Amino acid sequence: MDRRGFIKTCTAVAAASLASPSFFISSLRAQEVEFKAYKKAILLKKDGTPLRPEDIDPGKQYIFFYPHRATPCILANLGKEVPPADVKLSDGTTYRWPGGVGPKKSIVAYCAICPHQMSYPTPEYSFINYYPENILSKIVKRGGVIQCCAHLSVFDPAKGGEVIDGPAPQPLTAIVLKYEGGKLYAVGTLGKELYEDFFDVFKPDLRKLYKSSRKAKKLVDKCEVVEVEEYAKEVIRC
Ligand code: FES
Repeated sequence: MDRRGFIKTCTAVAAASLASPSFFISSLRAQEVEFKAYKKAILLKKDGTPLRPEDIDPGKQYIFFYPHRATPCILANLGKEVPPADVKLSDGTTYRWPGGVGPKKSIVAYCAICPHQMSYPTPEYSFINYYPENILSKIVKRGGVIQCCAHLSVFDPAKGGEVIDGPAPQPLTAIVLKYEGGKLYAVGTLGKELYEDFFDVFKPDLRKLYKSSRKAKKLVDKCEVVEVEEYAKEVIRC
């Protein structure tokens, strides 16, 4: 599909997504460039029971690993309905992000690998974090953002991860969520992925953490969700 054709498809998908989230997901599967379907993975609490939307506190940030065992994601409840948005790329093109999920359409998820130089949360520290409304970013003087303190990139979780400020050259990769029968699932990614580079650059660290590259790359079908503060010893905010 050429670029113009792709954008037309985005527009068509956008219109459809307003009517039906499930139609949005099945339509996106046909796209090769921006949406990538992975294993459908259920989001779980630490006790192994399904994570429910009401378990996600709007004043906190959460982490889970998807679509690979070693690829971190930020989960957040923005506390209000988050409508679909057109996400701008640096070349001026856009793609449609489907917005929040859950009964209030307020829950969003993004890959927590920074598109600038791939800072990501480790058990030692987390430079890239969600700032709920009650925690202000010193850069943009407001909450409700995802910010990477490695080199001060700021992203908008209510606009598909679009760059608000800083050196990041592209939006965060969105994790596409589905809300079904009271349960939350991750079903794929939307936007440009960094996984190949991530596995390449951080191979030695990931081997240490996961014992082998094969285990780090394993695709998951369930994801334990925990607060970032429980996962990383130090949460760096700026
Ligand atoms: S790695 Fe995140 S801003 Fe540079």
